[in-house]
Amino acid sequence: MKQLYDYQLKTNESFREAHKKSIENPQAFWGEIASTFKWQQPWEEVLRYDWSVPKTAWFLGGKLNITENCLDCHVVTHPDKDALIWEPNDPNDATVRYTYKDLLSAVCQFANGLKNQGIKKGDRVCIYMPMVPELTIAVLACARIGAIHSVVFAGFSSTALAARINDASCALLITSDGAFRGNKTVPLKDIADQALAQCESVKKCFVFQRTFQEINWNPRKDIWWHDFIEGLADTCTPAIMDAEDPLFILYTSGSTGKPKGMVHSCGGYMVYTAYTFMNVFQYQPEDIYWCTADIGWITGHSYMIYGPLACGATSLHFEGVPSYPKWNRFWEICEKHKVTQFYTAPTAIRALAKHPTKLIEDYDLSSLKVLGSVGEPINEEAWHWYDTHIGYNETPIVDTWWQTETGGILISSLAGVTPQKPTYATLPMPGIQAALVDNEGKVIIENEAEGILTINYPWPSIARTIYGDHERYKEVYFSAFEGRYFPGDGALRDVDGNYRITGRVDDVVIVSGHNLGTAPIENAINAHPAVVESAVVGYPHDIKGNALMAYVILYESIEDNATLISEVREEISKQIGPIAKPDRVMVVSGLPKTRSGKIMRRILRKLAANEIDQLGDISTLLNPEIVDEIIAGLAKE
Ligand code: WT7
Repeated sequence: MKQLYDYQLKTNESFREAHKKSIENPQAFWGEIASTFKWQQPWEEVLRYDWSVPKTAWFLGGKLNITENCLDCHVVTHPDKDALIWEPNDPNDATVRYTYKDLLSAVCQFANGLKNQGIKKGDRVCIYMPMVPELTIAVLACARIGAIHSVVFAGFSSTALAARINDASCALLITSDGAFRGNKTVPLKDIADQALAQCESVKKCFVFQRTFQEINWNPRKDIWWHDFIEGLADTCTPAIMDAEDPLFILYTSGSTGKPKGMVHSCGGYMVYTAYTFMNVFQYQPEDIYWCTADIGWITGHSYMIYGPLACGATSLHFEGVPSYPKWNRFWEICEKHKVTQFYTAPTAIRALAKHPTKLIEDYDLSSLKVLGSVGEPINEEAWHWYDTHIGYNETPIVDTWWQTETGGILISSLAGVTPQKPTYATLPMPGIQAALVDNEGKVIIENEAEGILTINYPWPSIARTIYGDHERYKEVYFSAFEGRYFPGDGALRDVDGNYRITGRVDDVVIVSGHNLGTAPIENAINAHPAVVESAVVGYPHDIKGNALMAYVILYESIEDNATLISEVREEISKQIGPIAKPDRVMVVSGLPKTRSGKIMRRILRKLAANEIDQLGDISTLLNPEIVDEIIAGLAKE
């Protein structure tokens, strides 16, 4: 029987062949790859879909548990290999390692704890934790018993946390007393307490002790992690899951209103994340793979936990930040653990590039074989800096384009196997049928073109729905262009068919790699009693990629805008989190609107970017004079 690694594509020709086969016969293609995993019961049908509903199902009737494939299988073949290497925030603290055997025991023990508390298959469990190994353990323990995890990034505010808990009626919250981030300590339990005051569904709160800071204790709800796992067995029979049963919910921002709880399934997600991990990063058995993301995002789920572990890899997790104690921390960790694959975000690359290269030169980075980028378009300058200073102009760079919704990487080169091209994500992965369409939805046939990116055929890890709102799922992803999945990005294509993602075509702005909808930020601003209306737009920023600017209209003009502006920023921080605070807030007397009353965001974006000569025709506006007012305001900024 073939093994997963028999499907590792090692030449450009084999990639081309695989891609061809995946299009000609997708079911045979994915069926073969899926057969390399452990199934408790084989599937009856590889794929059934109808995107007019929309409905997508893979490996129908198949039964499995993803943790068996991520843990038990490897405990049989390589029990003592490190599954997880954990680097703490403080470089003077010890590295923690979990072999596959250790990790399986820890996961099972915690899973038994969850069961003792009455958590069962299908229950939703919210996880709001720092980047400690226990976060990964909690995630996998949920999967072990079939509970649906919903990880909320620990940088989100209590209001944002409460909204996510309530949306999925989570039965349990797992958090920690606090979190270490650089020289800061974040009071996670306090934030969680504030959230729980608004969440009736949560019966218990598990608290992992990380910072040993003082916290409030609610004896009816709170339980220490170390207390409730004490004495529990470290084996736990994996729940039998249907391939299509939900594995997790992960929230992402939308152009409008509340966050979207993307629902991922067990079978297809496992197959696709493992296949793409192995191929994009060209993982080899002795490699030490490091992705610097946070598990609170999809990159952490797919390429720090599930993908690497399903491939039996060693995945390094880092608790801290690139700047602490100094801006050399990433390189110190690369040298210390002889990291072979390093996967980070353009915003981190740009921030690192601002510091003297001396901070890199002190370290031996010769172990690095693959560099990766994810989260936003990588600009020319950042790409070349990465290539020169970290890759010594010879380490392959993979620019991986994908989304929370796609579950795994859809467009990327395969490291050292398929050609790379600066700033281009390059070619769709096997199984991915991409197309560019124009605004009317007409497919652009010529290779060299610019348009809106769409995907025309299901792949195994596509999110199956938005939790509790299938209508919105249909509306957002399947209504723009009939029969096609619409990711919300624009793209360029070159003569060779390589894609370069140019950025969002909707009202989502990616700030420092964080996906932020402008609508929820505007809602937070409008909640201020002095504010009539507001508009938030993104504009280019050196390090963050994009920064936010808010235009705010007040009921009455006031002398001291500074206080109001800081109140507005505070409100955003409270409702969403500090990452959503705009860099610039401008008080204006009106917003440029069309005659039908629609805010002209295009103009506001140009103004924020200081591209005053590119405003285009503004004479058809309802109130063109407001543009002059804003220009005058910009001059005073
Ligand atoms: C949006 C999805 C993918 C995991 C992290 C972000 C942008 C992502 C790239 C890339 C250009 C990229 C897109 C996408 N994006 N990767 N390599 N090149 N843009 O996941 O928060 O769901 O954001 O991030 O705009 O739609 P996310």
